[in-house]
Amino acid sequence: MSTVDLTPALTSPRALAATRERISLVTEAARRAGSYLAGAAHRPVAPGPDAVAALDVFRRPLQDGRIDAREVLAELDAFGSPATVAQAQGRFFGFVNGGVDNAAAAAAVLAGQWDQNPSLPVGSPVASVLDEVAAGWVVDLLGLPHDATATFTPGATLANLTGILVARDALLARAGWDVHERGLFGAPPIRVVTGEEAHVSILKALRLAGLGVGRVETVPTDARGAVRVEAFPDDTDALTLVILQAGNVNTGASDDFAGIIPRVHDAGGWVHVDGAFGLWAAASPALREQVAGVELADSWGTDAHKQLNVPYDSGVAIVRERADLERATAMQAAYVASGDARPLMQLGLQMSQRARGIETWAMLAANGRDGVAELIDRTCAHARRFAERLEAAGAEILAPVALNQVLVAFGDAATTDAVIDAVQRDGTMWAGASTWKGRRAMRISVSDQATTRDDVDVSAAAIVACWAAVRD
Ligand SMILES: Cc1ncc(COP(=O)(O)O)c(C=O)c1O
Repeated sequence: MSTVDLTPALTSPRALAATRERISLVTEAARRAGSYLAGAAHRPVAPGPDAVAALDVFRRPLQDGRIDAREVLAELDAFGSPATVAQAQGRFFGFVNGGVDNAAAAAAVLAGQWDQNPSLPVGSPVASVLDEVAAGWVVDLLGLPHDATATFTPGATLANLTGILVARDALLARAGWDVHERGLFGAPPIRVVTGEEAHVSILKALRLAGLGVGRVETVPTDARGAVRVEAFPDDTDALTLVILQAGNVNTGASDDFAGIIPRVHDAGGWVHVDGAFGLWAAASPALREQVAGVELADSWGTDAHKQLNVPYDSGVAIVRERADLERATAMQAAYVASGDARPLMQLGLQMSQRARGIETWAMLAANGRDGVAELIDRTCAHARRFAERLEAAGAEILAPVALNQVLVAFGDAATTDAVIDAVQRDGTMWAGASTWKGRRAMRISVSDQATTRDDVDVSAAAIVACWAAVRD
């Protein structure tokens, strides 16, 4: 306890009023959030044009004076809530957006009030412990080496960037080049090999890492979008960075890790795996065969905000050797005490950061191993059901449904685009467009825990009805 009498600080009218006001506002925000959730399933998935046009209310010059926080909250709810994409129900199938698990959602509310900065344990003992526990559980669930180090990031793009930076510095260090001291100018060139289906965020990460995009060698992929093992170069060396994929963003297919990684390692190279959503197949006994051998890699990037249904934003970078991660990301400052077991600012790209591990901890604590596997299996079963329904109605499924992604064409490109447009305007569900091996496709991604079989059935029926309307 304090050595001084805290009474004046605790009982001053100003302090009491500020606390009461905060409690009242947070309670009001929770009430409004509840009303929003109650209405989400009853409105079109995408906001209507009127709701979007009404957002103009926010486009005003910043006024000089204060506005009461309650009024600000009311305005946010009145004009913001109707202009959201209704993700808080089970019929948004765009991108791979995931959804939000109940325990993770509740933890986010409480942790939001905690406002912890977990960059050092002294900044938040609870965030540090939960981060450590959640990171360990993620490594365990994904079947990765038990002593690998996981660190939360804002998403898979930065998780992949982390892995690529770690790989770059490790490969160059082994070649006798210290990136920390000398930068990249004059460094021995690193050869980068990816599948031709590498996600665009990998290219962005390579550019940010100074490895360039134009010099990346791409390996052809098969009809599922997985790297052709027989086409993989057999002359990689100790300065080669190979980036493989668990979960093609269009088809969900994964590369043949067991067939490729040992070859790269025999030559001394590094393998990073982008498993933004597909790596979670490893958490399902029924699906893990699809990513067999992924544990052989040196680093991995994944998301918690996709298949795991943790709120935005939350990714995870995982590195086999902690020393490699620290070489790339550690920093020193006079005001930072050394000796912490897990100083997050030394284990990733950020210094100050959101205490992301808390939400993943809550999700995993509530669902357990079986609950996570069931969630992954369920979304994948829904994707297969989508494909069956649409195929039965005469649509063309362009690639086998490996995990949770469905690619469907409705005849030629113009018709497919027209169906997608009609579906988005109809509002029953939302799915986006993609192009797969030259074919225009609707891409349906099932990654929200809220999706039920009924959601799949009404959504498939809406698609078929929109297709009929387009044909007419
Ligand atoms: C395969 C793959 N890699 C990387 C990303 C980027 O993830 P994020 O948006 O979390 O940065 C995505 C996003 O969909 C993805 O599907």
